[in-house]
Amino acid sequence: MRIQIINGPNLNLLGKREPEIYGQKSFEEYMDVLRGIYPDIEFECFQSNVEGELINKIHEIGFLYDGIVLNAGAYTHYSIALLDAIKGVKSPVIEVHISNVHRREEFRHHSIISSACKGVICGFGLDSYRLAIEALKAKI
Ligand code: DQA
Repeated sequence: MRIQIINGPNLNLLGKREPEIYGQKSFEEYMDVLRGIYPDIEFECFQSNVEGELINKIHEIGFLYDGIVLNAGAYTHYSIALLDAIKGVKSPVIEVHISNVHRREEFRHHSIISSACKGVICGFGLDSYRLAIEALKAKI
């Protein structure tokens, strides 16, 4: 099974950025944990702060991979271009958020991409990614 993880803007700062919200671990450290839990899954990780690069990556692998775990960061809340990219590919996309966006500012309550995603997981810290992988493995 091949799973692409895509992280959007500011998620390169995990571990340093607002640790009270996003935790102390860098994504690289967390990836070691995931690779340890799922030795049989081939993971590819991509992070960009640039909207178009996220779209290009979705196009590039969206017909090849068994699933995409996408944390689109703030683009979640307003990128119609990302919504269209998700709609345009075959691989199922699970939307994830580290924080519980519904307990935060009102502008974070709406996701523009959710309607194109297979499901949404938020609020479980970095474990949100593992839960998304479980969903892809179960092929719900
Ligand atoms: C986030 C939530 C977004 O609202 C925010 O802009 C992020 C991170 C999360 O993982 O909790 O950058 O997607």
